[in-house]
Amino acid sequence: MQCYTFANTGAMDLIGQRTGKSRRTALCFSIESMADSKIAPMLTVDPAHHVARDVYKLMTGIIVPRPVALVSTVDRNGVANVAPFSFFCGVGAVPPTLLFCPALRADTGALPGRKDSLRNVEETGEFVVNVVSEALAAAANATSTEVPPEVDEFVLAGLTPLASEAVRPPRVAESPAQMECKLLQVIYTGSHAGSGVIVLGEIVRLHVREDLVESFRVDPAGLDAVGRMAGNTWVRTRDRIELIRPK
Ligand SMILES: Cc1cc2nc3c(=O)[nH]c(=O)nc-3n(C[C@H](O)[C@H](O)[C@H](O)COP(=O)(O)O)c2cc1C
Repeated sequence: MQCYTFANTGAMDLIGQRTGKSRRTALCFSIESMADSKIAPMLTVDPAHHVARDVYKLMTGIIVPRPVALVSTVDRNGVANVAPFSFFCGVGAVPPTLLFCPALRADTGALPGRKDSLRNVEETGEFVVNVVSEALAAAANATSTEVPPEVDEFVLAGLTPLASEAVRPPRVAESPAQMECKLLQVIYTGSHAGSGVIVLGEIVRLHVREDLVESFRVDPAGLDAVGRMAGNTWVRTRDRIELIRPK
């Protein structure tokens, strides 16, 4: 265990203003295991020289674990759509924003290049992100079936639509937490099959099961969220560690 004590003058407070206070800060951490280990040989890849499939496999293997957004949308005729997206993350709280990324696929005619979720968001400007618990994981996985746009995945996966407050797409009632979103921006990173599309939305309503929240803190055990690793592997969030952040 290594410990360092240092004077900390003119410290920044949480909103980045100088407080003018001076204090001593102790920082302790264990670096023995890293110091003792040799630098392992690395596979180094220039994506320009590899097929997209292999680059995708490496990315999904090392960008882990990824939370799963179960995204509900409606098309312009009101037909509902649900699909999981693990290229998903929160962006900021002021305004509250998140993003998910429906990649383009090869246009086969029956299945167009734009996934239904993307087309619906672009047409209606609204979507809901439903958090996936382990109890919901199998049904969420079932909604990833590549089906034509007219198929309602709520029906396909036996999910219960629950009316949203501020947007038209329904929430997934079986989800322990849902975020109603209005579209801010869509960014295409390319135009080929496999190109990512960033869908950035502002969260206009947050819903969390009441029994899981106390003073706005969410009980992670009760939420029981799952994430995605590579391929068909998912991960639970039941094995957690605590690390106290240095001040
Ligand atoms: C756990 C999981 C995560 C997924 N994540 C993504 C993703 O981040 N981006 C993507 O384009 N497809 C992802 N997919 C595949 C889509 O869910 C699938 O293409 C789906 O059919 C799209 O539905 P839609 O056409 O109704 O939008 C994922 C599938 C699973 C099972």
